[in-house]
Amino acid sequence: MKIALIGYGKMGHAIEEIAVKRGHTIELAVSIENVEDNTVENIRKADVAIEFTGPESAFENVNKCLEAKVPVVCGSTGWLDRYQEAVWNCNEQNGALLYASNFSIGVNIFFEVNKRLAQLMASQKEYDVTIEEIHHTQKRDAPSGTAITLAEQILEVNPLKKQWINQPGNNKGDLLVISKREDPAPGTHIIRYQSDIDDIEIKHTAHNRYGFALGAVLAAEFIYGRRGIFNMGDVLGL
Ligand SMILES: NC(=O)c1ccc[n+]([C@@H]2O[C@H](COP(=O)([O-])OP(=O)(O)OC[C@H]3O[C@@H](n4cnc5c(N)ncnc54)[C@H](O)[C@@H]3O)[C@@H](O)[C@H]2O)c1
Repeated sequence: MKIALIGYGKMGHAIEEIAVKRGHTIELAVSIENVEDNTVENIRKADVAIEFTGPESAFENVNKCLEAKVPVVCGSTGWLDRYQEAVWNCNEQNGALLYASNFSIGVNIFFEVNKRLAQLMASQKEYDVTIEEIHHTQKRDAPSGTAITLAEQILEVNPLKKQWINQPGNNKGDLLVISKREDPAPGTHIIRYQSDIDDIEIKHTAHNRYGFALGAVLAAEFIYGRRGIFNMGDVLGL
């Protein structure tokens, strides 16, 4: 496959390394230094686009790929307030979009464990649940996209929690998501259920970016030739 890499930073470079090893070629690599190359015409030369820029530019880039009629895999986090708009645009263009807050296989299995644990704990009123996420200091959005996915999975089944919050408060109906920034930390997520009697904790720790990059390339291979809206569950058959 010919790949357009939109965002050629830490993730873009890791994705390039894996994509080339898997026999793909990089048709276009765009960063802020050559942003003038980020055109619909250039994107159109690729079979698939992989977008990892950041919260400010993700929505615009996704739309550009849809306009170019090139399936797009997006890993940028912090732009979900516009995700639904991107879905509408994708459907209107009869395009293909795959967004994942986290591309690693381990985290997507962790999502399934979180959903199951949340179901089991939904009627256990004596436990209070909190989420903690730890990332490197360059990360611009908080909480992490992965923590938001985990929180939404809990909110879906836990009748005691109404919304997630990022700062401690006094409302028991709020699900607290604690964000910590320290170096080096590719990404840690912890779900804690605490009671006076005992605690239950599940934790995922990323050791490096390889898992995210490999997942993004697998997602690109999956979306090539397809039409519609997809997620990592579709790629991994979860
Ligand atoms: N979904 C996942 O699994 C996952 C994993 C890791 C990181 N992320 C997210 O991916 C994004 C990128 O992460 P990173 O660590 O590679 O960041 P980074 O800062 O190392 O790289 C960002 C790249 O995007 C480029 N860029 C910024 N604005 C641009 C624009 N307007 N047009 C074109 N290029 C632009 C920068 O020049 C740079 O090359 C972040 O939102 C991060 O949270 C997601």
